[in-house]
Amino acid sequence: MAKEIDVVLSPSEDLPAVDVWLVVDILRATTNIVHFFSLGGKLMIPVEKVEEARQIRSLYGEEWLLMGEREALPPKGFDLGNSPLDYSRETLAEHPFAVLTTTNGTRAMLKAMETGAVVFAASARNAAASVERAFNSGEKIGIFCAGRYGRTALDDVLCAGVLVEKSLEKEKDPLLADGARIALNMWEACFGNLRRGVELAGHSHILYDLGMEEDIRFCCDIDQSETVPRLTTWEDYPAFVNY
Ligand code: MLT
Repeated sequence: MAKEIDVVLSPSEDLPAVDVWLVVDILRATTNIVHFFSLGGKLMIPVEKVEEARQIRSLYGEEWLLMGEREALPPKGFDLGNSPLDYSRETLAEHPFAVLTTTNGTRAMLKAMETGAVVFAASARNAAASVERAFNSGEKIGIFCAGRYGRTALDDVLCAGVLVEKSLEKEKDPLLADGARIALNMWEACFGNLRRGVELAGHSHILYDLGMEEDIRFCCDIDQSETVPRLTTWEDYPAFVNY
């Protein structure tokens, strides 16, 4: 039976029934999550609200990292922002547990989890690995673009296009829903230069203005990681693990 690939272009859409979600927030939440586990992170709790993140960290103690952003910058009292360049392997050796809240990405992850499907964090950096994991997890694969403030974000659509292209490399004729075809066509119009396309996105301008150009470069590097974090539950919290 041919795999079915769908792409939810806007976070305001109703989510279709799928077996597995690849949630995409390339700038920067899912890229950050993938990198956290690539460098040895063990557990990460994604939450929607800043105050909830603070409460969880105070519950589990200072050895947990309090990470995230609002308007791309760390809220008051946070240990780290939402940049994958904010920490090293050594940081995570001492602090392998984290709680994360971001403006759009964590909300999308939790919305995907509510459908009951398997949920993975996907990005350009783990594109092939995340598609491989999705193909091994079900027949109907949804790629969920986190977007920005409830609207479609070009950066996430382009990343979704990369994931659709990876799907076509794995299976000759999957059933592509319209959203998947749109994302693929947008990616193909970049002629292989993901960064050039992503730099046109509204959020890229914000990151540039904040001097975070290196984040954009890092987030647009394709297939740099085999890590595919999975969203499960831990002590009744939604939590990413690396298995
Ligand atoms: C988001 O959730 O909107 C992004 O991750 C924001 C960011 O990291 O700047």
